[in-house]
Amino acid sequence: MLGSRARGPGRQSETRAVVLIGFMGAGKSSVGRALGEQLGWAFEDLDERIERRERQKVDEIFRDSGESGFRRAEHAALKELLNELRAGAARIVALGGGAFVQRRNARLVEAGGAPIVFLDAGVEELWRRCRQQARQNGIERPLLGSLKSFRELYEARRPHYLKASFKQETGGKTVERIAAEVVQALRLDRSRGIRGEKQ
Ligand code: S3P
Repeated sequence: MLGSRARGPGRQSETRAVVLIGFMGAGKSSVGRALGEQLGWAFEDLDERIERRERQKVDEIFRDSGESGFRRAEHAALKELLNELRAGAARIVALGGGAFVQRRNARLVEAGGAPIVFLDAGVEELWRRCRQQARQNGIERPLLGSLKSFRELYEARRPHYLKASFKQETGGKTVERIAAEVVQALRLDRSRGIRGEKQ
């Protein structure tokens, strides 16, 4: 179901942040950017914050420090980001595909109170998008693996993603349409964004 509400209504009309979660290839960054533009809210990609803090690309962190090193850096960056959100900036935040799966991260995000949106698509579509991004933009995803391992990881993680406030289908839709559907489903208000000054 589109924009389906997985949990209670929350306080969307007062929301000043939205957190996007979902598997690799779900469109968290591109939808996040479009949402930011539609609302006049700042957009932040957690992986980019990790790279700035660590002064290394995500694939280099995996190579040099392993997945456990990456998860430590991810948790530290998430804590920092959530503290900034608490200070009041209206913001769209995209988390990397494994971030919300870590219990301590999920607890932190949930405690923040912002709606959490699970962007989803069929696993073959997600795989196709990741392969295309690797070919066209050189995006290296250390956990991409084979279609078989990709599918297994997706299935293992999906129950975690389903704890989100909303699930938004992305298959066969433009990024702008997905963003518009999220705005409508969450009843987000442009005037509460950073440029709107109703803060
Ligand atoms: C990961 C997904 C990546 C990135 C890292 C780990 C994962 O982000 O955080 O490679 O565990 O699924 P995207 O979901 O943006 O590809």
